[in-house]
Amino acid sequence: MEIPLSRPDITQAERDAVNETMQSPQLSLGPRLGEMERLVADFVGAKFAAAVNSGTSGLHLCLKAMGIGSGDEVITTPFSFIASSNCIMFDGGRPVFVDIDPETWNIDPARIAAAVTPRTRGVVAVDVFGLPADMDPIRETAKRHQLRLLEDSCEALGASYKGRSAGLLGEAGVFGFYPNKQVTTGEGGMIVTDDESIYHMVVSLRNQGRDSHGGWLAHARLGYNFRLSEINCALGIAQMRRIDEILANRERVAGYYLHRLRDLPQITMQRIPTNCRISWFVMVVRLRDDYTREDRDRMLEKLRARGIGCNNYFPPIHLQPFYREEFGYGPGDFPVCEALADRTIALPFHGQLTEPEVDIACQTLRELL
Ligand SMILES: Cc1ncc(COP(=O)(O)O)c(C=O)c1O
Repeated sequence: MEIPLSRPDITQAERDAVNETMQSPQLSLGPRLGEMERLVADFVGAKFAAAVNSGTSGLHLCLKAMGIGSGDEVITTPFSFIASSNCIMFDGGRPVFVDIDPETWNIDPARIAAAVTPRTRGVVAVDVFGLPADMDPIRETAKRHQLRLLEDSCEALGASYKGRSAGLLGEAGVFGFYPNKQVTTGEGGMIVTDDESIYHMVVSLRNQGRDSHGGWLAHARLGYNFRLSEINCALGIAQMRRIDEILANRERVAGYYLHRLRDLPQITMQRIPTNCRISWFVMVVRLRDDYTREDRDRMLEKLRARGIGCNNYFPPIHLQPFYREEFGYGPGDFPVCEALADRTIALPFHGQLTEPEVDIACQTLRELL
């Protein structure tokens, strides 16, 4: 039996929506784009939403719209998917990492101020594994030092912090719609913001630098093609119409896991502060400190050999070869992140996992421990 690490939640409604779009003569920049944007904006309570062709593109455009460029330092977390840091480098900025909180696994707000230099221009806070970063102290530090604040919510659609939706906790936020995300468009992303100037800039930048008063061949600035097609939007609309059901399914499966993993003394899990609502993205356990990275890697191999999808979310970004080379980072620079990253195991997680499948995954983990 194979239990995949993740799987998109696709029903007949999604298939019908995509098929119906194929009858349309307008496969890009049509009515579905605006509808998808409205659905996400309404769901999170944002004034503006702009769809793009990936979460990475969305992060890139937000930083551009915030004026982050060559030589600018941007503070972020080393414990994340690499795109949350790469986006800083696309226009010549420099990612400056600070270590994470050992319990929430998110950037440690108390460490940010010490990393600020005269060249610091912004912060990219990541809602790691669907748990919002502790944004109030981060916003305070950003304000004090006049830094732009971007929230990478690629993993966190449906999460909230003190009652406010993830994605709206900085000046702009970005959701990702890759197939392992809560909602998928195949590939895609969504920028949300209450800031009209950021919105207008990203809408222009995603569409070859056109703006609303010029024509198709008038380009006000250097732009990109980061558009999301009508086919992708149709899929996303069908998903957004089922968002409550999708999130509830994931929460139910998370419950199966939490119930079974609660009494395992060899592992800990991400701590969810009481003022946060997590949006379940993955099911990651952390092995106790007396397990080594080699122990963890052997366990991953054995889980896979038994048909159980798993992965080491995430290796530290600062230890990726090109980060070491470019910025001189090395082992020991961010010990909290490294100790965690050496010991994580992401177990199979999606909304259609059955209780017997979760049983098998947990039972196998228990045996290997
Ligand atoms: C935290 C984080 N940031 C950025 C991205 C990039 O999104 P995409 O793959 O849609 O470009 C992802 C996921 O893929 C992510 O998990």
